[in-house]
Amino acid sequence: MADDDDFVVTPWEVSGDVDYDKLVERFGTSKVDEELIKRIVGHTGDLHPMLRRGIFYSHRDMNWILDAYEKGPGFVLYTGRGPSGHTHLGHLMPWVFTKYLQDKFGVELYFQLTDDEKFMFDLNMEPEDTKNFAYENALDIIALGFEKSKTKIFLDTEYAKTMYNIAIKVAKRVTFSTTKAVFGFTNSTNIGSIWFTSMQAATAFLPTELKGEKTPCLIPCAIDQDPHFRVARDVAPTIGYYKPALIHCKMLPSLAGSDKMSASLPSSAIYTIDSPKEIDKKIGNAFTGGRVSVEEQKEKGGEPDICAVYQYLYYFFDWDDKALEDRRQKCLSGELLCGHCKQDLTALVTNYISQHQEKREKARDVLEEYMLRD
Ligand code: TRP
Repeated sequence: MADDDDFVVTPWEVSGDVDYDKLVERFGTSKVDEELIKRIVGHTGDLHPMLRRGIFYSHRDMNWILDAYEKGPGFVLYTGRGPSGHTHLGHLMPWVFTKYLQDKFGVELYFQLTDDEKFMFDLNMEPEDTKNFAYENALDIIALGFEKSKTKIFLDTEYAKTMYNIAIKVAKRVTFSTTKAVFGFTNSTNIGSIWFTSMQAATAFLPTELKGEKTPCLIPCAIDQDPHFRVARDVAPTIGYYKPALIHCKMLPSLAGSDKMSASLPSSAIYTIDSPKEIDKKIGNAFTGGRVSVEEQKEKGGEPDICAVYQYLYYFFDWDDKALEDRRQKCLSGELLCGHCKQDLTALVTNYISQHQEKREKARDVLEEYMLRD
């Protein structure tokens, strides 16, 4: 089916020009519509820009989560990170939204660091590498300001005693042929990778085990992670758990102009440990919607819709709709040149990252208080 071949989205591969509307159909999720947004705002009191901009745009069972919040038994949040390297802005995006949900609903968050996953999927990684990155990533999580008494972070390899006992229940109900169909695995995929989805599913059921009562779980994540949770939702009722609900975001585009930031191409992403010099250089080299010459750009105007700099402002840095629209119009008319937007973005990113780095350093002192141990 040629129609299905133009882009690929799995937890381990994102390529081509992602059509997010088509993805909702392909995955069988629901669009976040006006009615749902109204219902969320009824509780939060404010409309998060990532909802307003359609960045968090898809969901599964959000209305059930709000029912559970309104009538009991409440819900918990779950999200995660595969520690394959340092954290970049694309990773922070869903976490910032998760923090908003935690603040507004006053709920617990379970944060899974899948160091096992990144070891098994990446031939060049040793267990110490992914463990080290997990602790580095944990600093970024804490730096965002998650409520200490309500946030529990763990590494799969370290919280293994508890996780294993849940994961085996999942693994028993997932066949190799399901993982082939859902994730594209083949006979030559290593068996650790095939098993892994049971660990990612298990966290959705962890709060139920810890509390001793069935607990609704909402997972904010980038939509590429949805396949894991389709599997989790299929098996949940057969092993005595609620199906996890999800709210999905789009992926922050790469500075190089493709669809997802690649951890293997450091220049295409801004990392939380980058220096002002590195930020300046990366944004300076970013792919824009500019023309080949200043003359041509003044004449024809730029193309904000394909511009990585504009996308960064849209996704992360300019929440003032009027100012952004003004920038867009000036770009389209040729009045605004790329150097100007790059300068603006550099200033915003440098300021954001330097504040984040201060909080990230302070996080070292409290890290252990966030960790879940068994
Ligand atoms: N597999 C995810 C990654 O590679 C990490 C992860 C684990 C996750 N559990 C999650 C992401 C729940 C989102 C939600 O980054």
